[in-house]
Amino acid sequence: MCGIVGYVGHRDVRSVLLKGLGSLEYRGYDSAGVAWIEGGDLRLVRCKGKLDGLEDRLRGHCASTDGIGVGHTRWATHGEPNEVNAHPHIDCTGSLVVVHNGIIENYYTLRRCLLDEGHTFRSSTDTEVIAHLIEKYLTDGRDLIQAVRRALFDVRGSYALAVMWKGAPDRLVAVRRQSPLILGVGGDEAFLASDIPALLPYTRDLVFMEDGDMAILSRGGIRFFSLETGEPVDRVSHTISWDASMAEKAGYKHFMLKEIYEQPQAVLNTFLGRIKPGVSDITLPEIDLSFDVIKGLNRIIFLACGTSWHAGLVARYWIEKWVGIPVEVELASEFRYRHPILNDKVLVVPISQSGETADTLAGIRMVKAMGSPVLSICNVVGSTITREADATIYTHAGPEIGVASTKAFTSQLAALFILGLYLSKIRGTIARDELATKIDALAGLPGLLEGYLTLWHKEAMGLADEFYKKQDFLFLGRGFMFPIALEGALKLKEISYIHAEGYAAGEMKHGPIALIDRDMPVVALAPMDHVYEKMISNIEEVRSRRGIVIAFGEDGDTRLAEMAKYVVSVPRPSDGDINPFLYVVPLQLMAYEIAAARGCDVDQPRNLAKSVTVE
Ligand code: M6R
Repeated sequence: MCGIVGYVGHRDVRSVLLKGLGSLEYRGYDSAGVAWIEGGDLRLVRCKGKLDGLEDRLRGHCASTDGIGVGHTRWATHGEPNEVNAHPHIDCTGSLVVVHNGIIENYYTLRRCLLDEGHTFRSSTDTEVIAHLIEKYLTDGRDLIQAVRRALFDVRGSYALAVMWKGAPDRLVAVRRQSPLILGVGGDEAFLASDIPALLPYTRDLVFMEDGDMAILSRGGIRFFSLETGEPVDRVSHTISWDASMAEKAGYKHFMLKEIYEQPQAVLNTFLGRIKPGVSDITLPEIDLSFDVIKGLNRIIFLACGTSWHAGLVARYWIEKWVGIPVEVELASEFRYRHPILNDKVLVVPISQSGETADTLAGIRMVKAMGSPVLSICNVVGSTITREADATIYTHAGPEIGVASTKAFTSQLAALFILGLYLSKIRGTIARDELATKIDALAGLPGLLEGYLTLWHKEAMGLADEFYKKQDFLFLGRGFMFPIALEGALKLKEISYIHAEGYAAGEMKHGPIALIDRDMPVVALAPMDHVYEKMISNIEEVRSRRGIVIAFGEDGDTRLAEMAKYVVSVPRPSDGDINPFLYVVPLQLMAYEIAAARGCDVDQPRNLAKSVTVE
């Protein structure tokens, strides 16, 4: 979604804004703009397209030593992507600007009223009404903070907002309602941004604004108020462990590739301190539930979107097998409009990389009202989902910048693997030696991944050469290889724009088999597990219809080698339950190489946003 940055301090404001917007590019955008105050005047530069265009337009302006300003990358919702609709949006007097992420639901009515009152609109966005409303209430004699508050009483919808007015040239006003906004605390400077990477070059002391917070940022510091009452509120800053280098490409062509290669470390970071391989033990102190509550649970619900939903689907197989408890895996966007039957014996586990996904958040709010304990699995420390959940298992994967989720997925799997083992240990449903085998298998996973990454990458390049011109792909798997097939198909479609479908292999006969002909590449995931023979039969069915079989199977599987046109070898782990980790990584690499061969914008695929903070 849209990216917002803001700065007050002694640095050259335009460089801070541009650099900040650059590090938010991954969120997806179609236009960009900045505004700053210089010599008492408000300057505004916007353009359609990427940041290079904005940078070109700013070249004529010389650098200043200090400043105040706001910037924005826009992902269009209301109004086509062009310069006029780009943020910042300005009022009639040309003295006030706003940048906004979110949606103003009643903007049409507000716009009609403001037009009647004589305001002139330049854009067709919902955001512009906010600039005019604040202008209206400033003219009534209010100060900036009062005018912003009054204006927002008229507004329905979601917003992360930054406001700058030349009548108060030493401060920015920030407001948050249902859209993330993070403030960076410096010595005699202050920053705001919609995501952490924009702040990392300057500070690691961050305040995550809460819903209904207003803040005034100035060189003297940041003050917080309640939007509703106007009373001051206390907010504490968190010092985060991420640093700026973690949000850079480090020599890789794309963030996605870097993040694929970071997976051994990401998985290690997730289990570090939580599993103890030598003594076969597992600890999860962050689960704030007594053993009696854990023993009394009668259902688990995973709640998520996209790739995070796939992680929940994989975990269902583990947890039902090890813990013997029913597991439901819900798409948050559907779940929030259903009428689920919940109580305090149902553990709800939202899974989210960003911790800001609007649908997942709405689902959490719904289940909390019904008394279910909420344990989130999340990557971003301090994000909204972690604040609203009762407890959180952090994945510690480090910043994920590529829109296509990779290391966040494998680290979610690691967290879920640990959660499943922990529950089975507390409920006494797993034998000690089985627990030990699984802990050792997880502990050995980073080494296994490390050993195969380069080989898989080479194979992915070969497959990309062969298949990058195809328009359709089918991915098949059984058991927990079914969600991995879904994930392989999602990776391919989102970054290469090739139509790809993931299917449970046993369902093939019920429809998709009609698609198979000599042009159709079929990716078959076939580890030697309890459904291997079934998978082999499915591969035969594809072959008999002349489909092109690309099999992912165990090292040394000669049977598969005879049947498939292409084989990607995956190591046999000490415990087969670890297979989802091992099969998804070569699929990510294949998707990456195919997208790169097609010349696609891998890190910022069209129409997609990294974190979906609106419905
Ligand atoms: O931040 P979240 O994990 O809540 O995001 C969920 C999905 O938006 C995300 O996984 C999306 O599907 C990715 N583009 C997949 O690569």
